Amino acid sequence: MHSRWPRLDGLAYGGDYNPDQWPAEIWEEDVALMREAGVTLVSVAIFSWGMLEPRPGEYEFGWLDQVLGLLHDAGIAVDLGTPSAAPPPWFMRRHPEAHPVTRDGQVLGGGSRQAYCPSSPAYKSACAGITRKLAERYGSHPAVVLWHVNNEYGAPMGECYCETSVAAFRDWLRDRYGDLDTLNDQWGAAFWSQRYAEWDEIDAPRTSTTVVNPAQRLDFARFSSDALLACFRRERDILHELSPGVPVTTNFMANNCKSVDYWRWAPEVDVISNDNYLIAERTDNQLDLAMSADMTRSLAGGGPWVLMEHSTSAVSWQPRNIAKRPGEMRRNSLAHVARGADGVLFFQWRASRYGAEKHHSAMLPQAGTDSRIWREVVELGDELRDLAGLRGTTVEADLALLWDWESWWALELEWRPSADLGHLERMRAWYEASFRAGLTVDFAHPEADLSRYPLVVAPALYLATERGAANLRRYVEAGGTLVVCCFSGIVDEHDRVHPGPYPGVLRDILGLHVEEWLPLRAGDSVTLTGEPGGAAGLAGTSQVLGAADAWTEAVILGDAKPVAWYADGPAAGGPAVTRHELGAGRAWYVSARTGAQATAALLGVACESAGLTPPVVPVAPVGAVDGTSWPRDLEVVRRSRPGRRYTFLINHSADTATVLVGDRTVSVPGGDVRVITDLPDSPDLPDSPDVPDSPDLPD
Ligand code: GAL
Repeated sequence: MHSRWPRLDGLAYGGDYNPDQWPAEIWEEDVALMREAGVTLVSVAIFSWGMLEPRPGEYEFGWLDQVLGLLHDAGIAVDLGTPSAAPPPWFMRRHPEAHPVTRDGQVLGGGSRQAYCPSSPAYKSACAGITRKLAERYGSHPAVVLWHVNNEYGAPMGECYCETSVAAFRDWLRDRYGDLDTLNDQWGAAFWSQRYAEWDEIDAPRTSTTVVNPAQRLDFARFSSDALLACFRRERDILHELSPGVPVTTNFMANNCKSVDYWRWAPEVDVISNDNYLIAERTDNQLDLAMSADMTRSLAGGGPWVLMEHSTSAVSWQPRNIAKRPGEMRRNSLAHVARGADGVLFFQWRASRYGAEKHHSAMLPQAGTDSRIWREVVELGDELRDLAGLRGTTVEADLALLWDWESWWALELEWRPSADLGHLERMRAWYEASFRAGLTVDFAHPEADLSRYPLVVAPALYLATERGAANLRRYVEAGGTLVVCCFSGIVDEHDRVHPGPYPGVLRDILGLHVEEWLPLRAGDSVTLTGEPGGAAGLAGTSQVLGAADAWTEAVILGDAKPVAWYADGPAAGGPAVTRHELGAGRAWYVSARTGAQATAALLGVACESAGLTPPVVPVAPVGAVDGTSWPRDLEVVRRSRPGRRYTFLINHSADTATVLVGDRTVSVPGGDVRVITDLPDSPDLPDSPDVPDSPDLPD
């Protein structure tokens, strides 16, 4: 879908606006200051259920009428929330059964938010009720350009283990398997005497004495994601019916939310939006930001998306809430824009004086307008106005990393050969190597159409379906370059090991098999060396390629050629990295958990074999890393459309970086951002972007 974009000019700018926390006298000042800051869009009433329906069936819309009127008169558009993320106390008191239950059986209390069971009939009907009322009243309000359903579905709790959820899980299983024989077979119920004779015998995979059936865990994770999705769809359908033409979003947390399979969600959402909060302690958190933005764009099928929330400075929920330094909020904001965001919003407009988040930064901080944050907020508003021409451009991606939520779930269940192989850690390692090489990454589902990418990397694909494998084979045979990393292709969708030697369904594509996994002790590492006079990629390099830790394998070559070897460790003398010519393409295999240096070197040779070169040539690097001469902390991203290309150069270091963009030498001072237009201007900007369809997905 993604065919609808809010009625907005240029790039949207604003934040969560919670006027119900403030006396009405403040509202006019808010709106005047919003105008001063260049705010064009605010998200209103996300947590306002108790203020809108103070008693069941009794509504108070007067305050919201007034707020929407003020905003509209000031030309500020509204992303109107449905308040289902925070049912009011009267609801929880009337429906104690709607309290969520944890895996350990703890019933969670109120006084917070997101504390509801998504399968509760009472919750579903109460949400439908308040959403209907809002849609009837504001469905055609001229200020409302977007609907914002709930808030961050799946966090902080994605799964509910109450009896209502268990009953819904059984229904979900009936739909999926049809009969118990099939379920018993797929779940491997013969193991540990788990054969089910009646549907009612099936429970949620709650905490037990030791490990619970992994197939049951996986299905419960799927069911839980679907249960939340059903909540979203219920509200969305009401909004579509009563507010035709106004698109609907719900704010994602991209790669930071394990519990929700966003590949299944993305096609259901009209406008993809994302929240991004950085771990302030991390001094390289620009990588996490970029990853999150690239994932969001990928969920949007390459089309525009909205950064629904980030922070002007410190958040309030980390152990040490480090304030952003001058210029950091601007760099963060422009990095999201560079990666496809057509809107930059914050949590929140005005800092709260009370409640759990009173120490969180805001656009209008406790210090008021005579503050650095306010001045930077106003400047950013001006700058985003000047960048309005970005509307209608798309990000140029160089390669794809395969990402599958189901594989993430499966990989991180208990009793794996090594606890050191994690989904996010492997993704980040390959993402970082790409980022540092100036390459832009899309994320893709393993069953999606990959034909547009010269290079595809699978950093962690423990769970791989037959269908996914067939897709990867087609991609390689048609001329693609695929890099598969260790412990991939091992199990099917029920966490059953694929028949035959590892790596199961990927064996033939890679032209090898793995006889044994050889995980390492904590702290141990091995050295990888390039093959002397090697057959492919690392030709002539007998030198050290880099180190690997945590994981090695005994690889037995079929038609694949060795590219790098284990110099030591349990697999010493065996091939560590291989390359297999298949059809018009090639498939690489990296059998160890490579460190930064080896990952960067392998990405380099894989790029070479795929004919992929970084878009910008550095002429005066500020620092060298991992054998490349790329300015280490320079972020480079391009957005373009016919006749125009914007190259974003974001310098995260303290030193000036000088690079060549096309034939122009550009210097970017430390901490600064430059947006270079390097193709002839075209005066005709489209009013609204031509938004592509959602990503190709399995049925
Ligand atoms: C988000 C949430 C916001 C606010 C913010 C604070 O996860 O959606 O409502 O709590 O965190 O950082």
